[in-house]
Amino acid sequence: MDWKTKISDSNPNGAVIRGYDLEELMQHKSFTETIFLLLQGHLPNEQQTKMLNAIFVSSIDHGIAVASITSARTALSGGSPLQAGVAAGILSIGDFHGGAIEGAAKMLQQNKDTPAAQIVKQFVEQKKRIPGYGHKIYKSADPRAQKLLQIAEELGIAAEYCDKAQDIQNELLAQTEKQLPLNVDGAIAAIISDMQFDWRVGKGLFIIARTPGIVAHLHEEMDEKPVRRLDNYEYAGEKGKKLP
Ligand SMILES: CC(C)(COP(=O)(O)OP(=O)(O)OC[C@H]1O[C@@H](n2cnc3c(N)ncnc32)[C@H](O)[C@@H]1OP(=O)(O)O)[C@@H](O)C(=O)NCCC(=O)NCCS
Repeated sequence: MDWKTKISDSNPNGAVIRGYDLEELMQHKSFTETIFLLLQGHLPNEQQTKMLNAIFVSSIDHGIAVASITSARTALSGGSPLQAGVAAGILSIGDFHGGAIEGAAKMLQQNKDTPAAQIVKQFVEQKKRIPGYGHKIYKSADPRAQKLLQIAEELGIAAEYCDKAQDIQNELLAQTEKQLPLNVDGAIAAIISDMQFDWRVGKGLFIIARTPGIVAHLHEEMDEKPVRRLDNYEYAGEKGKKLP
């Protein structure tokens, strides 16, 4: 057999997801619960469901100015169809926007027994940015990160990775003298690590969360005049050169 999967199957009698009948899931389980089932292979409990749902809501949309939304709307404004706009938005999700969940979860999970001070020292020495810290507009605290950590505490989910993520924030301030708060990606990374998600699904979780926001913005963009232009830019190159 060339292809093998333990995730799902369908045949003329119906479909199964991780062993459960899809029609049963449709009637009794939420979208969030079924996403957890797909990714972890078992159904979540009530606390895990609430937590994952809060994570999705935290990242569903964050205004028109962010890369995933401007990229999507710009693509559609050029005359491309909705699916091209969605793809453009998702393609802009990288290590600095949304995708930092993956890097931060990897850092936490692969340095489980390394003290926060040592983790920060390694990044500082290599002049690398620590994924999950700092924000364009939230300079002292990212309210989404704080809320997620509060929910994780209340649900009894916050454990060693949430503690470590906050220790790293304090170490960053101590070692760089820069206020680089734990951002929403960093908080999600810590929480999903405490929930036993593999760091390799980090970007996937952000994509799942942000896609509804992208679709809503594309729907709105459909009523705008075509072809977005960037008008507040400066040409900083040479002018008036003569061809040889
Ligand atoms: C999000 C981010 C792009 C915002 O950047 P910004 O507020 O525009 O800050 P700047 O790029 O101007 O950086 C200011 C200084 O802080 C440093 N810095 C910023 N984020 C840092 C981080 N996560 N770790 C270490 N240093 C960081 C920069 O190197 C720069 O140092 P310098 O002044 O000595 O050159 C940036 O904090 C970052 O790259 N964070 C890591 C990626 C991440 O978590 N992204 C998810 C955002 S929700």
